[in-house]
Amino acid sequence: MGHQKAIFNTDYVHYKYLEYSVYEGDFKDVCQDILSVHETSNALIAFGKTLSQKLFSESTPDDLKDFEEITGDKYFPQTQRDVFIWIHGKTIGDVFDRARSIDNALPKNASLKLEKDGFVYHDSRDLTGFVDGSANPQGEKALDAALIPSGPAKGGSILLTQQWNHKLDMFAVMPTTEQEKVIGRTKPDSIEFTDENMPENSHVAKTDIKGTKIYRRSTPFGNLQEHGLYFMAFSCETERFTKQLQSMAGSQGNYDRIMDFSTPVSSSYFFCPSEELLKDIAQS
Ligand code: HEM
Repeated sequence: MGHQKAIFNTDYVHYKYLEYSVYEGDFKDVCQDILSVHETSNALIAFGKTLSQKLFSESTPDDLKDFEEITGDKYFPQTQRDVFIWIHGKTIGDVFDRARSIDNALPKNASLKLEKDGFVYHDSRDLTGFVDGSANPQGEKALDAALIPSGPAKGGSILLTQQWNHKLDMFAVMPTTEQEKVIGRTKPDSIEFTDENMPENSHVAKTDIKGTKIYRRSTPFGNLQEHGLYFMAFSCETERFTKQLQSMAGSQGNYDRIMDFSTPVSSSYFFCPSEELLKDIAQS
């Protein structure tokens, strides 16, 4: 079965992230819009567990969960939402037009809870100045990491979204060598530290866990008043995320030092259904 093409499409540099609360409704129009081909924009839709079970019944992945807060030395709040929309466009105007069209196609009781505008920052860097995405799997390995391989949810994906607010001034006052220890890679050219030089509490050390490959599509968002990373990543199973997040929070051992400079303020899991499942709704 075919996955939603936006997952792997990197042609565009302007993004919008939308999270809605909506208990139930008719999703026919919005699925038609998501599936329609536009030259200037792409869009993806994903659903929280409650709505997924209503819309897709047994095609909902067994391991899909509502996000539960994670506590350790650091904390991940839960703000589980029902619908996630991701729009990519060639220009900010294209993104805005598509967002209006999709928002109008959603059920009238859908309540917009989060809207963030994302952008590609220089050569795909996070606002801290570090390249984000270097260790992402490529080609077939990306498909293996992101997509559910078999069963009724085949071609779908589990999606984690999180808004992170950065304290950029606090990060920027550190010398580059110290910033690199926080991440576990060099800043100009994103070279990973060797095992012997890798600090135990660096971001790479806390997330590079065997058997937990995910496919990340985060971008920076925001303006001068509020900015950070809108983290989003696709996985064939939920557990890969929970292992990485528990490791970052310091549920056992050190917490991830990146959490001294950035704070997660939202977290949701969604099911990103295959195009076939969306077609079933669009044609219903
Ligand atoms: C403030 C939030 C975050 C920032 C700024 C950030 C930034 C980065 C950067 C700069 C890298 C190194 C380059 C690369 O391989 O992409 C990286 C790697 C990585 N990050 Fe994050 N990240 C954040 C949150 C997260 C979260 C929440 C997760 C997991 C749920 C995560 C999972 C990963 C993984 C799996 C890697 C690759 C590790 C490896 O195999 O080398 N990151 N991140």
